[in-house]
Amino acid sequence: MCGIVGYVGPKSAQGVVVEGLRRLEYRGYDSAGIALVADGVIASAKRAGKLANLEKAIAEAPLAGSTTGIGHTRWATHGAPNDVNAHPHPGRTGRVALVHNGIIENFVTLRAELEDAGHELASETDTEVVSHLLENEVLAGADLTTAMQRVCRRLEGAFTLVAVDGLDASRVVAARRNSPLVVGLGEGENFLGSDVAAFIEHTRDAMELGQDQVVTITTAGVSVTGFDGAPAEGRRYHVDWDLSAAEKDGHDWFMRKEIHEQPRAVADSLLGRRTASGELQLDEVRISDEDLREIDKVIIIACGTSFYAGMVAKYAIEHWTRIPVEVELASEFRYRDPILTHSTLVVAISQSGETADTLQAIRHARAQRAWVLAICNTNGSTIPRESDAVIYTHAGPEIGVASTKGFLTQLVACYLLALYLAQIKGTRYGEEIADVLDQLESMPDHIQAVLDQREAVYELARQHVDTRSVLFLGRHAGYPVALEGALKLKELAYLHAEGFAAGELKHGPIALIEQGMPVLCVVPPKGRDQLHGKMLSGIQEVRARGARTICLAEAGDETIRPYADELIPLPRVPTLLQPLVAVVPLQLFACELASVMGHDVDQPRNLAKSVTVE
Ligand code: M6R
Repeated sequence: MCGIVGYVGPKSAQGVVVEGLRRLEYRGYDSAGIALVADGVIASAKRAGKLANLEKAIAEAPLAGSTTGIGHTRWATHGAPNDVNAHPHPGRTGRVALVHNGIIENFVTLRAELEDAGHELASETDTEVVSHLLENEVLAGADLTTAMQRVCRRLEGAFTLVAVDGLDASRVVAARRNSPLVVGLGEGENFLGSDVAAFIEHTRDAMELGQDQVVTITTAGVSVTGFDGAPAEGRRYHVDWDLSAAEKDGHDWFMRKEIHEQPRAVADSLLGRRTASGELQLDEVRISDEDLREIDKVIIIACGTSFYAGMVAKYAIEHWTRIPVEVELASEFRYRDPILTHSTLVVAISQSGETADTLQAIRHARAQRAWVLAICNTNGSTIPRESDAVIYTHAGPEIGVASTKGFLTQLVACYLLALYLAQIKGTRYGEEIADVLDQLESMPDHIQAVLDQREAVYELARQHVDTRSVLFLGRHAGYPVALEGALKLKELAYLHAEGFAAGELKHGPIALIEQGMPVLCVVPPKGRDQLHGKMLSGIQEVRARGARTICLAEAGDETIRPYADELIPLPRVPTLLQPLVAVVPLQLFACELASVMGHDVDQPRNLAKSVTVE
């Protein structure tokens, strides 16, 4: 939610900042802006709409050359996405400029205080209040670092702030509380970004910052303090992907590229998980075997697509370990006063590692002494840092707002966790676990086989440009797949789309079925006879009422043919693992349909990649 960039070094700050904003635009794209320190003043431009509008404005009215600057791409919270509310925001005299991600919760009080002192605020944002406060400190004689520390001590809420002072081109100063910020470490230059994509083309050496810290970057180095001014340290790390991973690689959309990267992402997420003696190892799990053996309840918390991965995890963990599992939306978790003990394992699933709802749920769980294990794709992000253990997925950067490879690799991590718990608790024999690992290792080929049929799925999608409503049905592990298929269509094609457990249909939703309505049905493998038969009944029920059924079923399942208007064959895989292949045609379908409808697939309206506000 909002992308932030800062730079100081020998290069053109405008070039570095605009390029950084382009790579962060997926985080928010309501408006964009830049501020540069040039000849003792701040030169700034900002525009509503996508980054292209800002670039056009700068091309028409070039800014002065500069080597120190900040930039912002916005997902609006306070105030409409117009030019005035766009960041950066200047202080009262224009001496400082500031960009912000997050929400300043006490901004009403602070704004009133400023207005009483005669300040006029131009925007409706909470951010402008901070830029005025910061400038007050600078005008009173503080350097920008000290000014930032003082102001942060007065702020409530969640924020990343990055600022420049027009009279001090030597530094860019930033601060963070409950909101993402990483430092890029260069030679004679340094960078700030909401994530490493902002500076990946310049350096792969990064530093993560702790909570309530202020960082100052200059050409000579990086210094970190607490809000109280006390010296602090950031954790340095090396980013294990490069610029090519953040490019489209010949595809029209990042999403399409990321769908096609799934065989590799799944394979990478499975790498190095077996010991020489064939046992499953998850070396990032830092909870002792003794403590894991004591676990008597698992609660999975997540949002959106990650929540659906959690639903699949429930089937796997309960089946392989017999430990009861609850799956809960992270945004609801702490409000119901959940029962948590020291033998509860809370599993937080988050691609970005920054989702505020999930982060707050984790904090609640830890305060109640529950163990927290994160499943996360982003090294250096807040959620793994605040958890007792982490299983990293290895999807590489996911830039399309709609999660695809993030989801598949989360599923892999969930299966691995379930098997690991089964190994520790002794609820499955070693050879059973090894069998499932073998099956998992064959999944990249199966996923590739589904991708190889993409043209047929694209053709089907193109037939639905005028469709206004689509339903998805599934059962057991196919139910979360149905929900995920519907979410993809909602967020990309802006269609009414709903996923249902097929057995629930007759309890109400079947009334929605109209002549010709497309219903996508995720059919379980035939091996699970009861499940398969029941699914067939559900399909017949909707078809009898006029639905056009598009069935995803395993190759060779002839029983489905009479009931399928369209058939998408899936590779033969075990029921529990079927989501790994069944969701892929649904991703392709949504991507292609949104594309032919003329929508921006990577940046759907009203959304942002990383939801850092509650
Ligand atoms: O980064 P997270 O996995 O915590 O994000 C959770 C959701 O915001 C995310 O999955 C969202 O639903 C995606 N846009 C779905 O495609």
